[in-house]
Amino acid sequence: MAKKGAISYADEYLRLGYDPGDDELLCAFKVTPRDDVPMDEAAAAVAAESSTGTWTDVDSEVAERLKARVYKMDGDMVYVAYQPGLFEISSMPNILSSVAGNVFGMKAVEGLRLEDIRFPKEIVDAFPGPYYGLPGVRERMGIYGRAMSGSTIKPKIGLTTEEHAQVCYETWMGGTDTVKDDENLGSQDFNNFYDRMARTLELLHKAEAETGEKKGYWANLTAATVDEMAKRAECIKENGGMFAMVDYVTVGYTGVASLRQITEKLGLIIHAHRAMHAAFDRIPYHGIEYRVIAKTARLIGVDHIHTGTGVGKLEGGPQEMRERVALLRDPVTKPFGGVLFEQDWGHIKPVAPVASGGLHPGHVTALYKIFGKDAYFAFGGGIHGHPGGSRAGGRAVRAAIEAGAQGISLEQAAKESRELREALDLWAEVKF
Ligand code: 3PG
Ligand code: 3PG
Ligand code: MG
Repeated sequence: MAKKGAISYADEYLRLGYDPGDDELLCAFKVTPRDDVPMDEAAAAVAAESSTGTWTDVDSEVAERLKARVYKMDGDMVYVAYQPGLFEISSMPNILSSVAGNVFGMKAVEGLRLEDIRFPKEIVDAFPGPYYGLPGVRERMGIYGRAMSGSTIKPKIGLTTEEHAQVCYETWMGGTDTVKDDENLGSQDFNNFYDRMARTLELLHKAEAETGEKKGYWANLTAATVDEMAKRAECIKENGGMFAMVDYVTVGYTGVASLRQITEKLGLIIHAHRAMHAAFDRIPYHGIEYRVIAKTARLIGVDHIHTGTGVGKLEGGPQEMRERVALLRDPVTKPFGGVLFEQDWGHIKPVAPVASGGLHPGHVTALYKIFGKDAYFAFGGGIHGHPGGSRAGGRAVRAAIEAGAQGISLEQAAKESRELREALDLWAEVKF
């Protein structure tokens, strides 16, 4: 190993004009250098610290071969190519500890944002992707030709097990396809996971028998250890459940990848909630863009994931939602809008986007325009805050979703549905 003292990163890692091969992993970073650091040097520092380098020259034959290269710079955007041998290809933590690791804390940059990643075929092939994915979920739910509906039980924390199960039952009876626990409901003293899940699934089977429709319950099995999540998943299966919900970001990549193996054996569909994402995907000059979260989730193999709505209470407009949907559903995602790289998904199935956050029936026409039919539209306050209660809220949502799928206006549909009329009178239609 040679040691030659402090180095210029730019000499070692800047290769503008280099043409990366199809087998290289590509990253697009938005770089805000520190005032006294030239852009070239900051860009090269990112490539160095995210691959083989450090602040001084410590070289080896292998390291020389695996050096990342800054191949393009465009304003504050810096494009880096990573050699295939650099990663343990089936390990998302390993990949991200390189390209989204220490680089974010370097003094050379004021801010650094990983905007997009292009995964090469070798890495795509090393991941399972969703076991069911969008087509498998539709098949198991038996719902075609319209968006699927979901509801988050509210209040998010504060219902006893029996109250929670009864609200779910009312919501299904109103015509909602699936209900879910909220992201911060685990196994608290007032509402134990095992009791809640068993009682809620008992009422799910009652609602199925009474409506003749398939119903879903996304039970949040997020827990402190993978062993405990496995135990909860087995209980869902034993009680005749079909879905396991997990808080994707707080549980982490290894936790979700392990869950993916467990749920495949049990035949459960994975619903991924993204709580905590906005701590690092919302700041425009620093962190990791949501599209990276969506892409990693698709590779690891969740069946659904929250995307935001474009029209509700959470950040992100319609254009961002279209990008997110393309990343989750397309067989090959083409670069457009903010999506920077073409991504060929190979054998990886499409994931169902879940639009949720501040939605009510008056948003449904707009949601169809943004998401099309291949998505879930999910409502918390927009169902349980209906003046007639959760069953009436469920009816209003069902009427809106059926109408939207057939191109019938909400006003027209409200002539046939008192509950939809009441919802529109309370919250008003949101035009888009
Ligand atoms: C999101 O991340 O999109 C929202 O938190 C969704 O909320 P939900 O838990 O009701 O679906
Ligand atoms: C959230 O946690 O933000 C919600 O679950 C979404 O609920 P809402 O439909 O009442 O906004
Ligand atoms: Mg929530």
